[in-house]
Amino acid sequence: MSILKGKHIILGITGGIAAYKSVYLLRLLVKAGAEVQVVITPSGREFITPVTLSSLSGRPVISEFFTANTGQWNSHVDLGLWADAMVIAPATASTIGKMAGGIADNMLVTTYLSAKEQVFVAPAMDLDMWAHPSTQRNVATLRADGVEIVEPGSGELASHLCGKGRMAEPEQIVEALEQWFLRHDTTLPLKGKRILITAGPTYENIDPVRFIGNHSSGKMGYALAAACREQGAEVVLVSGPVSLPAPAGVERVSVTSACEMLEASRRAFDTCHAAIFCAAVADYAPAVVAESKIKREGAEIMCIELKRNPDIAASLSREKGKRLTIGFALETDNGADNARRKLEAKNLDWVVLNRLGDPGAGFGVDTNSVTLFSRGGEELSFPVKSKQEVARDIVATVFSLR
Ligand code: C5P
Repeated sequence: MSILKGKHIILGITGGIAAYKSVYLLRLLVKAGAEVQVVITPSGREFITPVTLSSLSGRPVISEFFTANTGQWNSHVDLGLWADAMVIAPATASTIGKMAGGIADNMLVTTYLSAKEQVFVAPAMDLDMWAHPSTQRNVATLRADGVEIVEPGSGELASHLCGKGRMAEPEQIVEALEQWFLRHDTTLPLKGKRILITAGPTYENIDPVRFIGNHSSGKMGYALAAACREQGAEVVLVSGPVSLPAPAGVERVSVTSACEMLEASRRAFDTCHAAIFCAAVADYAPAVVAESKIKREGAEIMCIELKRNPDIAASLSREKGKRLTIGFALETDNGADNARRKLEAKNLDWVVLNRLGDPGAGFGVDTNSVTLFSRGGEELSFPVKSKQEVARDIVATVFSLR
């Protein structure tokens, strides 16, 4: 569930070609559960019709100080008090200039001057206008006034020129809002907590081109990182090689081998309140890494001598103090017994058992079914769900959020 649920957001739209993207931004905000009031400048209305915007927001669009046919006064002061945030997207050079200078000659800038809560601005203009000292000066003024600037991207512009000035994508704007609220909402249950999560596989080099690895996709660990962040935690995600993007607002440390993962995890563990060890760490690594590529000629059978890797979960949990530690067990047989044994052997508070072979569970797939075992003897089973939902169940259970 998005932190934007129930939030009151003013979406300000100005007269730029990127206004068509504001329709999608509005959709995303509504989908996230926000209540959105659109305020559009007269030139914004040339680009996008109020009917589209009012249909999607479920509220009449405000553009003028007075609604023409009824004579109703649109109170910018009331709007400013109603809003939890205001986002102006796209913001033209002209509107940015007016905001910086306090020139309240339209409903949008007047509302901005009355807004008590955080304001976000997503500029959109041609590259030369963006680069102009006047625009840069005005943007700096807005920043100094506490406005969050959602930086424009680089690429092809409406003028067919290429450069910086494209409005940030609607998803990035929503993410900027979500991350801001996550940073500032002090009521979130994991606020002030720092959590280490290990995720993905490890690769253990055999020679410069080959390694021993496994099929872990990292999806479960990444979903846990997002679930902890959603509850307000600061997350350090120590990740083996995977092809997933880092979840928004999460600090990712990329590693390759088990030894690197241990080192990075140990560094983070010091400042963390809890750790979730979700990585599929290789148990063994080649005792010696060949300096050059091993040739095929020679014996029919080839042996690679392996040495034991450090157990990250066990080593860190041994000296965990008051920290909560959670491990995973991926078992094919005697799942419950092995999970309970791991609680003791690795000094963990919880073990999450996945049974490889259960329908909908395991590597690569998007779903999982888990059973949680606690040191105190609890045993809780969850049905097959998406990894995102499973992650939320795990986080809610181990941090007693329900
Ligand atoms: O002993 P086993 O590999 O089954 O234990 C799995 C749990 O221990 C997982 O939480 C995994 O992340 C962690 N682990 C680890 N370092 C290892 C092996 C496992 O942190 N070398």
